[in-house]
Amino acid sequence: MKTDTFHKRDFLTLLDFTREEVETILDVATELKRKRLLGEKHHLLEDKTLFLIFYNQSLRTRNSFEAGMTHLGGHAHFLSPGSIYTPALEGREVAYSTERVSDVARTLARMGEAIAIRCYGDPVDWQYGEAHQMMREFARWSDIPIINMECDKYHPCQALADLLTVKEKFGTFKNVKFTMSWAYSPSVHKPRAVPQSAIIAASMMGMKVTLAHPKGMELDPEVNKSCRELAKQNGGSFKITNKFEEGLKGAHVVYPKAWCATSIYQPPVGKNDPDKTQAIFDRNKKWICDAKAMKKAANNAIYMHCLPCDRGFEVTDEVVDGPQSAAFDEAENRLHVQKAVMSLVMK
Ligand code: CP
Repeated sequence: MKTDTFHKRDFLTLLDFTREEVETILDVATELKRKRLLGEKHHLLEDKTLFLIFYNQSLRTRNSFEAGMTHLGGHAHFLSPGSIYTPALEGREVAYSTERVSDVARTLARMGEAIAIRCYGDPVDWQYGEAHQMMREFARWSDIPIINMECDKYHPCQALADLLTVKEKFGTFKNVKFTMSWAYSPSVHKPRAVPQSAIIAASMMGMKVTLAHPKGMELDPEVNKSCRELAKQNGGSFKITNKFEEGLKGAHVVYPKAWCATSIYQPPVGKNDPDKTQAIFDRNKKWICDAKAMKKAANNAIYMHCLPCDRGFEVTDEVVDGPQSAAFDEAENRLHVQKAVMSLVMK
């Protein structure tokens, strides 16, 4: 297994890595998971510090990174932007309240071995791409790796956990039908990072990928373009449907989740119109993953969700708590894949 290409690399999107590199991360994660189950200690990151900057709330991401650093013998240091000088891009600075990203990045890089960041939504006024730009700016100034814990475009750690879960359940990616579907939520404040990273990951692994969403809930066209290219390169397929049932038909992986459209509420188009988004959401309340919906999928289909899920809206209790649900395996796998990423880029 070739691991020397990872040293000090930023981990911002799977698009920065080759399929072989992503498979290496999954192999390392599988090995670390096996060792943990056997009770073996694996202090690969002793004396090392990971800084965690969270602009948004989190259950899984924060705790899996913190537990992961404990397992690896290092320390994860939680930083809330409100309790430091909030890292800000040039143009968003407020005297003695914020600190320019370039200065935060260079300071923390003198003290630890990696910086992990979560930022999307309100902290960047839902300006699509700005949170990702901030991560790239951190990466430009820091000489230690930057790890994306979810920005407005990508959630690569979630995508790795999704891949590991599919691999564990089906033993292969070949001929696996992977459906990423929009689902209804009463909240329109939903980023697109999870579905965008999930379809990138599935296309990269050569799965048969379907993206299902109502009209108006389109994902970033650049991401869809990357998926088409990845599918072609890796022997898979990528298609889009506006029909919920068509997306579910014969799927092995059913991944229904709410997200907000590129074209409305969130620029680049610039129509900052939450009411229009709300109207589209409200027209599509039937996009719920219930037992009837799961029956349209393959007999051995699994239900996936990054969590937290909106019970009674995106999915019924019966499905998320039922025998086909892989959502909690997926949540656990966050721990194992992130330990792999940290050990590869921070060692
Ligand atoms: N899936 C995920 O990122 O969960 P959290 O928002 O709880 O971190």
